[in-house]
Amino acid sequence: MSQPLPCPSKVEINEVAPRDGLQIEARFVPTEAKIRWIDALSATGLRRIEATSFTSPKAIPNLKDAADVMSAIQRWEGVDVTALVPNVKGTERALACHVDEINLVMSASKSHGLVNLRMTPEQSLEQFATILDVSKDSGVFINASLSTTFGCPFEGEVPEARVLELIAQLIALGIQGITLCDTTGMANPAQVKRLCEAVLNRWPDTPFTLHFHNTRGMGLANALAAWQAGITRFDASLGGLGGCPFAPGATGNVCTEDLVHMFESMGVDTGVDLDALLAVATTLPDLIGHDVPGQVVKAGKSTRRYSMPAAHV
Ligand code: COA
Ligand code: ZN
Repeated sequence: MSQPLPCPSKVEINEVAPRDGLQIEARFVPTEAKIRWIDALSATGLRRIEATSFTSPKAIPNLKDAADVMSAIQRWEGVDVTALVPNVKGTERALACHVDEINLVMSASKSHGLVNLRMTPEQSLEQFATILDVSKDSGVFINASLSTTFGCPFEGEVPEARVLELIAQLIALGIQGITLCDTTGMANPAQVKRLCEAVLNRWPDTPFTLHFHNTRGMGLANALAAWQAGITRFDASLGGLGGCPFAPGATGNVCTEDLVHMFESMGVDTGVDLDALLAVATTLPDLIGHDVPGQVVKAGKSTRRYSMPAAHV
């Protein structure tokens, strides 16, 4: 029987906009601009930055400059740089660029795995076994992201028992951390709470990260439910950018500055300088050429005050 854990007083934010955010954009962001932007993000107190992905440039052309980005960004003490990797070739490229962490990706559902990666979950697990072997002397932390954990846009519900079975297999292989991804915003807070309590009770020593998309407006509610279950690690994307180009209907991640604002206003320490983060968020429309879904950057923090209209003073 799962026991609820106390709500954590601190959380860690992994900024995924340079990867999840840019992979779905219509426009290629020039390499130099990406580097300046990632450097600015590194200065805001974020714990981890997913700087790019080492995927096929045919599959994800927006991130074809992964090696150039990785070699030029500043490396900050206390800020781990991670990159998404689907296969052995991507692992070799990532290791050559001295990433701090590799974020492997596979799907919990067969159909999304085939469309996104051309691999079934079993084939991904086989790749991961080789990857762990290839990377074993590198000292690089190996995390695995499980896409469609909370539902698949092709298959619908992914049974919780199936998710738990895949997590067990990942941990048995030697994967060090696991990210549970709601790829197209199908999760609801009750489902999130149930799964988070189950995994934290069963694998208390494994760092679990939660990755939500706000496709149906439930991103922050889901993050709150995960935190209430005891989760301390969250993926989020500046401005609320993001989405998997191979998942129909995908839209942006939970917005980093909105998530930080929510936690900080509740007294939960994120380690992030929200003003500095908001300053970077204001540069996004110029960087990518359109408005973004983030709300706090438009509304201001909840501490914002207005002058009374003159007639009432
Ligand atoms: N990095 C760079 N190039 C890669 C690569 C990698 N990690 N993996 C494969 N390639 C190249 C191969 O060298 C080959 O190149 P060539 O055509 O010039 O010979 C080509 O891609 C096809 O290789 P193959 O192994 O047959 O891959 P595939 O076509 O079956 O594609 C993936 C499989 C996983 C590489 C591809 O689907 C992919 O990169 N998907 C990522 C999807 C993604 O990031 N989605 C969003 C995040 S959830
Ligand atoms: Zn995502």
